Amino acid sequence: MPSPALPFEETLLWQHIASQYQGRLESIHGPAHWKRVRRNGLLLATKTGADPVVVRLFSVFHDSRRTNDGWDHGHGGRGAEFATQLRKEWLGNISDDQFELLHYACTWHTDGHHHHDPTIGTCWDADRLDLGRVSIIPSAEFMSTAFAKEMAAAGSIQPYLPHDDWEMS
Ligand SMILES: [Fe+2]
Repeated sequence: MPSPALPFEETLLWQHIASQYQGRLESIHGPAHWKRVRRNGLLLATKTGADPVVVRLFSVFHDSRRTNDGWDHGHGGRGAEFATQLRKEWLGNISDDQFELLHYACTWHTDGHHHHDPTIGTCWDADRLDLGRVSIIPSAEFMSTAFAKEMAAAGSIQPYLPHDDWEMS
């Protein structure tokens, strides 16, 4: 079933953000990671009740203003600020509530918090479920949503991935 029309130009937005990424494109926090976070988040959203528009935007913004692959203090806030800068030109059709969720999720995604809001929790879980790229098995205790806890307890997201159309080329 086709996805409902998005309120933003996803492919063009990704190109715009990736073109300004200051890290190495192949880095562990670069666009390949963003794509997996998007995929993970959309999968989680099928059960968590998260807003998939916010999940998609979080995936591309949350690490977009990193300058290195270390702790890079404040990079979440810089990603949120970048979204604010692009709000008018690129995100004019998302609601203020959606933008607030995006801004909050980006700002605070780095500190290991949990969140009861299904959209914020799904964004953070989608990021943490990609820890396998740095040889860390995601732990259920760091997940906010029940579905992500289930995946982490299973040891891998792979068995849960039936939807090829969530992959971005
Ligand atoms: Fe990330």
